[in-house]
Amino acid sequence: MRTVRRRALGAAFVFVTGPALQAQGVDAVQIVMHGNGRGAHACAACHGNHAEGNRLAGIPHLAGLPDAYLTRQLTHFRAEARDNPSMQVIAHTLTPAEIVALARYFAALAPPPPASVTAPPPALGIALAVQGRGAVPACAACHGPGGVGLGDEFPPLAGQSALYIRRQLEAWQQGRRPPGPLGLMGAIARRLTAAEIAAVAAYYEQQPAIPVAAASSKDVP
Ligand code: HEC
Ligand code: HEC
Repeated sequence: MRTVRRRALGAAFVFVTGPALQAQGVDAVQIVMHGNGRGAHACAACHGNHAEGNRLAGIPHLAGLPDAYLTRQLTHFRAEARDNPSMQVIAHTLTPAEIVALARYFAALAPPPPASVTAPPPALGIALAVQGRGAVPACAACHGPGGVGLGDEFPPLAGQSALYIRRQLEAWQQGRRPPGPLGLMGAIARRLTAAEIAAVAAYYEQQPAIPVAAASSKDVP
């Protein structure tokens, strides 16, 4: 899967064929585009045809997120441990095999380009991301430089919807989302002020998820 993704870095998205989509007999593309026929709506209806998300609506992009991370989130929605009415209903109807196949499918897609910059990133957001503040560690320590993500446990934040990032940090503050591996994010989010959350979310929305040189604009359909 990693090889497929690396080879595809120059494209805005990538078609995956063969066994990856047919994991355990599940046709991930069918579910993404048309639903599973048992109550899970087409993922593309909300997350977009290339899983690019919808920034203004606060719907996250799924393209290029680690498959172990995606599997964990769908499992949390299914168990109603993570709060979101639409996603809980959908995840309830997904079988474990469908969850694995969908997570692999989305992980292999190239992430969308960052938000076009209308204002420079807030200094407060850059400072938190790069240096942290007091008991708040630098976000980059776990999410990687510029929020590109680290391994399977630390998801990328680069290019993600600022509204979505803000809602996640608030969900942790209010105990509506499980804290994740080692309970890390709950404790971090509770130390952030509303102004810090807005600033760091705006910063990450502007960061490129893939090297700019690789994301040649002529490859974007
Ligand atoms: C009705 C709209 C809608 C549909 C259809 C939908 N989603 Fe979602 N999805 C959302 C919203 C909204 C969120 C953000 C929830 C939140 O704020 O916590 C989300 C979040 C997620 C997340 C968490 C992403 C992250 O970064 O943690 C995953 C994974 C996900 N959806 C997978 C799917 C899959 C797979 C399907 C199709 C089977 C699907 N979604 C269909 C609206 C939708
Ligand atoms: C000590 C490591 C660590 C640090 C530091 C850290 N995070 Fe995280 N973060 C995580 C882990 C682990 C997850 C995945 C949680 C899960 O699986 O639900 C995560 C997930 C997230 C998510 C959810 C992404 C999504 O797609 O839903 C957001 C938003 C986030 N972190 C923001 C931040 C911000 C902002 C900072 C800096 C103020 C920060 N994190 C610092 C470990 C960390």
